[in-house]
Amino acid sequence: MRANENFLKLEGSYLFSTVARKQREYQEKHPDKEVIRLSIGDVTKPLAPAVIEAMHKAVDEMAHEESFRGYPPEHGFDFLVDAIHRHDYEERGLDIAKDEIFVSDGAKSDCGNIGDIFGEGNTIAICDPVYPVYLDSNIMSGRTDIIYLPCRAENGFMPQLPEKKADIIYLCFPNNPIGVAASREQLKVWVDYANENGSLILYDSAYEAFVTDGSVKSIYEVEGARTCAIEFRSFSKTAGFTGVRCGYTVVPKALQFGDVNLNAVWGRRQATKFNGVSYITQRAAEAVYSEEGRRQTEETIAYYRRNARAIFDGLTEAGFKCYGAVNSPYVWLTVPDGMTSWEFFDDLLEKCQVVGTPGSGFGSCGEGYLRLTGFGNYEKTLEAIDRIKRVYSK
Ligand code: MLT
Repeated sequence: MRANENFLKLEGSYLFSTVARKQREYQEKHPDKEVIRLSIGDVTKPLAPAVIEAMHKAVDEMAHEESFRGYPPEHGFDFLVDAIHRHDYEERGLDIAKDEIFVSDGAKSDCGNIGDIFGEGNTIAICDPVYPVYLDSNIMSGRTDIIYLPCRAENGFMPQLPEKKADIIYLCFPNNPIGVAASREQLKVWVDYANENGSLILYDSAYEAFVTDGSVKSIYEVEGARTCAIEFRSFSKTAGFTGVRCGYTVVPKALQFGDVNLNAVWGRRQATKFNGVSYITQRAAEAVYSEEGRRQTEETIAYYRRNARAIFDGLTEAGFKCYGAVNSPYVWLTVPDGMTSWEFFDDLLEKCQVVGTPGSGFGSCGEGYLRLTGFGNYEKTLEAIDRIKRVYSK
């Protein structure tokens, strides 16, 4: 037996596991200190009342033979697929069919699993810095021909088209970790490139709920995307489902590469390896689209936005150069001169008991930056800003 040796090519530990371990070790040494966690983009507000109500009702249905449900349908229950289709695509005038939507347990799993349907020898283009799942999942599958697309302040953190041909291109907007959103014109360049070169775009739209300025929420807003793009969506950041687990992936039937239709093979892959999302969870996700659900989840998003804005304003006042926050729950800030991202991470933990995520953990172009999240509690976020200001204000 030979194990998958590609795993040896990965960093020893996943970024957020390393961050969590460092926090744990600090807390063990200093049990009296209150550590404020603004690191992983994990939500803190409870689920919307409309969602809780739908879950309770679904639990009760599972208690009776007449309303009990077993395995869910492969694409997801019709009630959820219909709601997604109507609210996220049809109402926005986007041409996506119901059988192009695949309900899943979240965007992270789908972003990793999608690699199953790609052949060997593809060249992969990935932004730098980037959500680590894209890179790690390709390395695990032995795809090591990677083009890094630097996203730097000088180019507005927007990737430029690669010189060498890329077969598969990962894009995430609003972007994680930097927090910048993309316009239709900016994405059109990528859609045209992909269509001209027979490439595929994997578009992660997990943060679309945070768009405030008319930037793109769905890649299908861009003309031509149906023939070159898969889109990943999540209820995690939109509706606080990080622990509940539900998302969906859109694979248009127009995605034909040689003899292979990606919609058909992704359906085949899911039917074999995935048994769907629980009825209770799908009813919860459906409730996000109800009138009450929409109003309540929007209130929570506004709460997180206010946190991100407070971090942005507070730290800008303290002399940090900050990015993000406008269309994103994340603030991306430059670390003090002479420090690396990890050094600042340690310093911040030591002196302020605040945990961030070091920019270099997202890629080499993230060196010199730190990411803070707006997903925390508002009062604690203000406390963290105060502590940082006291120590680092210029
Ligand atoms: C992040 O902090 O980047 C995200 O929460 C990670 C994730 O969504 O898996």
